[in-house]
Order: sequence, then structure tokens, then C-alpha cells
Amino acid sequence: MRMIDIIVKKRNGFKLLEEEINFFIQEYTLGNIPDYQVSALLMAIYFQKLDSDETTNLTRAMMNSGETIDLTLINGIKVDKHSTGGVGDKTTIALAPIVAACGVPVAKMSGRGLGHTGGTVDKLESIPKLNTTLSKENFIKQVNEIGISVIGQSNNLVPADKKLYSLRDVTSTVDNISLIASSIMSKKLASGADAIVLDVKTGSGAFMQNLDDSISLAKEMVKIGLNMKRETVAMISDMDQPLGWAIGNCLEVKEAIDILKDQGPDDLKKLCIELGAYMLLLGKRVDNIEQGKEEIKNVISSGLALETFKKFILSQGGEISCIDNTDLLPQASDIHPVLSKESGYIENIQANVVGTAAMLLGAGRMTKDSNIDLAVGIVLNKKCGDYVEAGEPLAYIHSNDINKKILAIEKLVSAYKITQRRPETRPLIFDIITKDTL
Ligand code: URA
Repeated sequence: MRMIDIIVKKRNGFKLLEEEINFFIQEYTLGNIPDYQVSALLMAIYFQKLDSDETTNLTRAMMNSGETIDLTLINGIKVDKHSTGGVGDKTTIALAPIVAACGVPVAKMSGRGLGHTGGTVDKLESIPKLNTTLSKENFIKQVNEIGISVIGQSNNLVPADKKLYSLRDVTSTVDNISLIASSIMSKKLASGADAIVLDVKTGSGAFMQNLDDSISLAKEMVKIGLNMKRETVAMISDMDQPLGWAIGNCLEVKEAIDILKDQGPDDLKKLCIELGAYMLLLGKRVDNIEQGKEEIKNVISSGLALETFKKFILSQGGEISCIDNTDLLPQASDIHPVLSKESGYIENIQANVVGTAAMLLGAGRMTKDSNIDLAVGIVLNKKCGDYVEAGEPLAYIHSNDINKKILAIEKLVSAYKITQRRPETRPLIFDIITKDTL
């Protein structure tokens, strides 16, 4: 088989065979095909597209390019949850112990990543002494003993994706639905879950900014999951404004702990209840979504979800005193209110701009080797639809550096749009894609 023939075939709009896709992924991972040929194929895929069979075959080949995690030694149905990412998205930190408290085992490998803030693992590492690198044996043992473990992703998971993603980034071939769906799903499938709940974000702070694209991506990922015999559901949720109030690693952990204490922002709580209900349904702990929602609310209000979180943190060596007293988490040296210059309703808070403001403070990584400041970030005081008086705080900036603070204030103010008429509210959840609604 020759790579040139595969490029010509896709360039001319023909369907690739499974063995051709396997050849390209295996040989590229081994370093036997040069980047320039793979770049040409990616561009051909970008214009000619892949159909569902090709996308599933690509996902399977990528999944098999490295280590695959075997979770069969964990009792019960393992349900994973994945978010396509957004600003202030700390859902996993609250949801994992909630679902575990309901009896569905959570064996989660999470990423760090480039972005406005760190990934789930970075955020969790705001908790002093927490160890997010467990051996596979200890990971499985902990989930069997206490129902939950969250650790960093193994470096050997889907090496084909690491190479392909870097190439897509510099060849302008990132935003192709099949390439995104196969990239995300290959990592989920390699992580060993039996079922998957996807939170596909839509809006200014999301990877997919418009709703139709978000729905197409969600459908493609659900199809891949089902083709690979994993029950998969995707929820399309709003990321036009940040989720919750807090943006920044430690601030987001604090907000997730608030949810476990039956406090915290309504949008985050609602999203946890909706996603959690589907996780319980796929994990066969409940017979329907309404029952799932009730179970989730019960473990939050009874304190069981908070207890499960403490057990998880303790078991991985973290300081649990900072869960009861979140003032013991890292704190920024300065908290600065950003005041509104005018009175009116908040019509829009551009999530991507708020994310950039958090990044300017040092909450995210510019390159994969940059350090992040776990304490800094933004806590919103006004969200879309709220009324603000001139002189009232729109948000608070938590910073450790005056120059970064000045840049972040300017950015944050530009994210807010204020209007005199009460704006229409955007839904939090736009759609839910299941095997029945594909
Ligand atoms: N996230 C991924 O993991 N891959 C993509 O291609 C896009 C977002």
C-alpha cells in the first residue's frame, strides 16, 4: 500500500477502505510517513469529508495506535463524561463524586491541556498534596474500594492523535467534524469506559460557536460510540457566557465544592443534574431520567456526594481540611472589583473574551510547557439577564501581578454588553442526542 494512492483517492472524493485508514494511522504513528503527505491527506479529508464508516474506522485505528485501558476489573458499568471544553467548566469536579455517590463507578482519566484555564487535573491540583498520578493497579483498586478516582491521562493514550492534532493545528485542518469527533472519541474509547455522556458546548467560548455545527459534531460522536458498541448520549449546552461564576483553577474547585455543599450557581447545578441523570441511566442505576435527577438531588442534599469527594481526595493524598474551609485553598494576593460604568441589563458576556482575560492573569497555558497560576482568575458578579447599577461590580479579578491585572480588567470590561431592554434568556441545554434521536 502507498500513501500517495490514499491521498489521490480521497482528493478525488472516493471512500477510503478500513485497511487504508489503518495503514495511514499505523505507519504515521511509527514515523514511516512524512508530515507533508499526511498534511495533504488531511486537506483532502477537509474538503472531501469522511462518511460515518470512514470516521468510525479512523477512530478505531487511532484508538489502537497506543495503550488502551482495560477497566473490566472494576465492578459495574463504567460511564465516562467528556466536555468539549469551555470557560468556567468545572462540571467534572462536582459531577464525578455525585455520580459515584449514586453507585456508578467513576474511573476517570482527565487532561491538562492548553486553554483559558488548566484542565480538570490542573484544577484539582489546587488541592494541596493531591496526587493525580496513580499506577493502573492503584487506580482500579481505589475505584473498587470507594467508587471513584480521577487521574491524569496516560502519555501513551492515542499517540496518533498527538501527532495528528499538532499537524492539524498548523495546516488549518482542525475544524472538520470527522477529525474532531475521531480525535475526541478515540481518547474516550481508549480510556476503557462502557458508556459515554458527552457535553458538547455551543457559543462564543466553545470550540463550535454555532448551534448547527455543535449538533453535527454531537451526532457524529454519538454515531461513533454506537458503532463501537458503547452507549453514548450527547447534550448540547450553552457556552455563550461562562458556566457558573468562577473562571480560574482554584476558584473553580471552590465553586465545584459549593455545588457539593448544595450551594453554588444555578446553571452549574442544573447541568450537573442533567448530565448526571444520563450517567445514572447509562450506568443502569435508574430506569428513567426523572428518577436519575431525583437521585442526584438526594445525594447532594444528604451530603453523601460531599463525603464521596472527601474520600476521593483523602485516598489520593490531598488535604481534606480545605474542603470544609475553602479559604485554605491557594489565594491570590489581590481581589479587585471591576465596576460597571453604566446601568442596564447584561445582554451578553462573551465567554471567549472572559477566557482570554483569565489567561492574561496566568490561569491558563500559552504553550504546553508554561506554568499556570492556580490562585488567579475571575469571579463574575453579574450574568446575562441580570440588572446592574452604574458603580456596581460586574466581576472580581483575583490576581498576583499588577500588570497582568490591568490587562485583564480591560479585556473583561470589553466582554460585557449592557442594554436598556431586558434581554431574552438563552437556554442552558439546547438539545440531547441519543440513539433514538439521531
Ligand atoms: N478536542 C480534541 O481532543 N480534539 C479535537 O480535534 C478538538 C478538540
